[in-house]
Amino acid sequence: MGIINIGKIRIKDPLILAPMAGTTTLPFRSICHEMGSSYQPTELVSARSILYSGLDKSMCYLMIDREKEGISCIQLFGSDPKDFEYAIGKICEDERLKDVDIIDINMGCPVPKVVKTGAGSALMRDPKLANEIIRASVKVCQSYGKELTVKTRIGYEDEDKDNGKAEDFIKMLSQSGAGLIAVHGRTRNQMYHGEADIDALARMRRACEGSGVPFIANGDIRDFSSGRKMLEMTGADGLMIGRAAQGNPWIFRELAGVFENEEKDIEKVTFEERKEMLLRELELTMRYKDENIAVREMRPSMMAYIKGMPGAAALKVRLCAALTYEEVKDILWTV
Ligand SMILES: Cc1cc2nc3c(=O)[nH]c(=O)nc-3n(C[C@H](O)[C@H](O)[C@H](O)COP(=O)(O)O)c2cc1C
Repeated sequence: MGIINIGKIRIKDPLILAPMAGTTTLPFRSICHEMGSSYQPTELVSARSILYSGLDKSMCYLMIDREKEGISCIQLFGSDPKDFEYAIGKICEDERLKDVDIIDINMGCPVPKVVKTGAGSALMRDPKLANEIIRASVKVCQSYGKELTVKTRIGYEDEDKDNGKAEDFIKMLSQSGAGLIAVHGRTRNQMYHGEADIDALARMRRACEGSGVPFIANGDIRDFSSGRKMLEMTGADGLMIGRAAQGNPWIFRELAGVFENEEKDIEKVTFEERKEMLLRELELTMRYKDENIAVREMRPSMMAYIKGMPGAAALKVRLCAALTYEEVKDILWTV
């Protein structure tokens, strides 16, 4: 059991939903929050696109709702401190976004489109620039009373996690003014392959020991026992959960006792409950989007909810062709 402080924000037993492009929409984030996640960053948004095109173009990703999400957190990516300064200022001045609590900087995205601009995980190869970005961002955040956090990986090249480079990077982060460090236990080169390296995460945790900056471990936490193992082996202050929450926001309920090592006796989620949750997420999505855009954008999420159901393959084909809420509902309840 533990309490972390991200600047002035206090969180008991942090269970954080990992940012996931295409998944962590406001409706899904609110559902996860209801289930027990402490906070939920938005998916990554380009700081430069905010500079060049303003906020409106990215508003569907930036949208936050403190009432439904508790603590709100917007994730930005980029490679120029000036872009971050501008984007954070713009966010904090905007009527729709000014209540944001945390700005998170992405230093872990492995996607070539992002890496080749020097952003995301490419920043692990340029600690000096990464440091400048954080310092510049912290300054703007402080002037608006916001917190600044960073999400990264255990290295760029596979060797980095063993040759001290990744540890140096984490140490730098812990001295840069960031209020929390979340680390995905894979290198950039691993992308999403192989297993998260828990021993490497434990070393990263030790690298920032004593700094007072909370360390959050991420990667392959699927259930109570993998969450427990992650905490015990890394000594992390909190856990971040990504793919295991897709179609399964109940994971946060399951992990509720993980800090005390008290597994709650929770009934298995039924297929009916999963279908109902899918429809609920769709309904919430339709509050922000036109019905057929909402149905189309919910497709990946729908696939996650129906995973493992009897007849899932046929269901998938029919759901992918659906264009309205009623169609989705009929398809789900005729199975
Ligand atoms: C579809 C998908 C989209 C992702 N998008 C982001 C993102 O926008 N920002 C980010 O920091 N990480 C992103 N990630 C990485 C996750 O936040 C997380 O670090 C990774 O999935 C490992 O955690 P897990 O094993 O619990 O899924 C994404 C991962 C997936 C699978």
